[in-house]
Formats: sequence, C-alpha cells, structure tokens
Amino acid sequence: MIITIDGPAASGKGTLARRLAQALGYAHLDTGALYRAVGLSMLRAGHDLDDAAQAEQIAGALDLSLLEAPALREQKTGQAASAVARYPGVRTALLQLQRGFAATPPGAVLDGRDTGSVVCPNADVKLYVDAAVTERARRRAAELQAAGKDVSQADVEAELAARDAQDKAREEAPLVVPDGAVQLDTTRLSIEDALEAALKVVSAKKISRQTGAD
Ligand code: DC
Repeated sequence: MIITIDGPAASGKGTLARRLAQALGYAHLDTGALYRAVGLSMLRAGHDLDDAAQAEQIAGALDLSLLEAPALREQKTGQAASAVARYPGVRTALLQLQRGFAATPPGAVLDGRDTGSVVCPNADVKLYVDAAVTERARRRAAELQAAGKDVSQADVEAELAARDAQDKAREEAPLVVPDGAVQLDTTRLSIEDALEAALKVVSAKKISRQTGAD
C-alpha cells in the first residue's frame, strides 16, 4: 500500500505522515528532506543557488548523512531546498530513490509536494493537507523557537508564503492537489484529529479493495 501526503510548508503533512506510518507499521519518507539536503550541500559549498548544473550534480551523488544534520531544518535551508527543487535535473536525480522507497513492503507513506502527482501517481491513497498560512506560521515559529532559534512569527509567515508561491508557480512538478486526493484542512484540527481522519480514508480504501469495489 502506497500513501502520499502533499501540501504546502508547515501544513502538518510531515507530522501526519510520520504518525500514520507508525500507526500502520509502514515506512515513512520525508521527501522534502532530500531537497533540503541538496540545498544544504549547495549552501555549505558556497555555490550560487541559481547554478542548476551544480545542484544537479549534488543531487546525483547525494550525501545521505546530511539527512541527519541539525541545519537541515533551518529556514535558509528550506529556502535553498525550494530554489534547487525548481531544476528538472535535480528532481529526476531524486525520483528513483523516492519510487524505490515507495515500494517498501508492506507499505510506505511519502510526504512532500509532488508525491501524489509525479512520484507515485498510482498511489492507493492520496491526501492533500493544508492550513491557513497564519496558523502554519504560528506552528512553525513555535517549533523553531522551541529549538532555540530567535525568529518572529511574522518573518516565518513571510518566508512560508514566499516559498509556497515559488513551489506552486514552478514549471516542473509544481505543488498541486493531485487527481483523486482527499483534502484535509488542519487549521482547526489537532494532530490526533488529523490522524483519525487519515486512518478513516485508509480503512475505506482497504475495505473497497477487499470487496473488489476498487
Ligand atoms: O517539506 P519541506 O518544507 O521540508 O520541503 C522543502 C522544499 O523542498 C519545499 O519548499 C519544496 C521542495 N520539495 C519539492 O519540491 N518536492 C517535494 N516532494 C518535497 C519538497
């Protein structure tokens, strides 16, 4: 069973994906972390983020140890990730890795921007998670502040809005609601509520498969 969860920055898709995978005993891949690793590698090497060829080369030989780097979660790494994610060569380099992961038995949950539209268009369950930008900024600012970062909610909101605009407007695999996706607005939902709603969608899919209705 393949489950994809797409949505804008800080919509709650990552937490939901992790919790859903735990509940079902499936593997979980945060695909944004791969783009962040490419972005972080570019920043550390001092490369210009407009250098598509460099970014493609880095993505093609990605240092997976970067996935553990604390700097992966910083705002500037998120911005760098969004910048390198515009390049078709970077996306192609990361595609097989994501598709291979999706085939993990007995199931996998992938979260990102194009997991239901491009990476796994035939996924069994597709979710699209969104929330009001002010609420997303509140949650992300709280997370960053808890990690000791000196950030204001207003700055976080401006950064999220700019990154969403770039991720939605790009030509290659833009953030869209994938065909057949169930949409979940988490503005007023706790993580427990969101998990319950997602589990219902998965159960309905399992039942329809068993009864041959699908
Ligand atoms: O989910 P995140 O904030 O960690 O993602 C960081 C950036 O990576 C995001 O702004 C766009 C890019 N990304 C992408 O283009 N495709 C994905 N499937 C996941 C992330």
